[in-house]
Amino acid sequence: MKNFVSHSLEETSAIASKWLAGVFAQAAADQAMVVALNGQLGSGKTTFVQSVARALGVDDAVTSPTFVIMKKHKLVGTSHFKSLVHIDAYRLENGSDLGALEFEDIVADPGNLVLIEWAENVKSGLPADIEKIDFEYVSENERKISFAV
Ligand SMILES: Nc1ncnc2c1ncn2[C@@H]1O[C@H](COP(=O)(O)OP(=O)(O)O)[C@@H](O)[C@H]1O
Ligand SMILES: [Mg+2]
Repeated sequence: MKNFVSHSLEETSAIASKWLAGVFAQAAADQAMVVALNGQLGSGKTTFVQSVARALGVDDAVTSPTFVIMKKHKLVGTSHFKSLVHIDAYRLENGSDLGALEFEDIVADPGNLVLIEWAENVKSGLPADIEKIDFEYVSENERKISFAV
């Protein structure tokens, strides 16, 4: 496990780039890279996704998809992933709720990098052995961020 403490949005952004550099090596040829983002409200999950999106060249706004549940951002000119799929499962209740998002098709596409906030809400609908990132609120400007890759 790699543990970081971020003291600013810039540091969170640098940590997101580090994570991204490691995750390409874990990408499978036959299915999407699915990543669970765990941590309480305000711990920095959406901010981290915004940083990943910026690092991948996304220029449309990455807002919290709480009310739309899912947003897909097309990636141009990156080596492996073709889309960044951002899911916020805050308002979902169980794994079967993912069916409405055609989640199986999303997972079947190796071009997708899928980042899921509140993944614990839909755990039963997720593939086994997915990547995880843990977020923790430390103080107003400090967030702990931990991941394996
Ligand atoms: N070091 C930091 N890293 C990330 N976010 C931070 C940091 N310091 C303060 N923040 C603030 O904390 C909030 C995190 O919110 P958000 O990313 O929406 O959390 P979540 O999606 O986990 O609910 C944002 O308002 C952000 O500006
Ligand atoms: Mg969020």
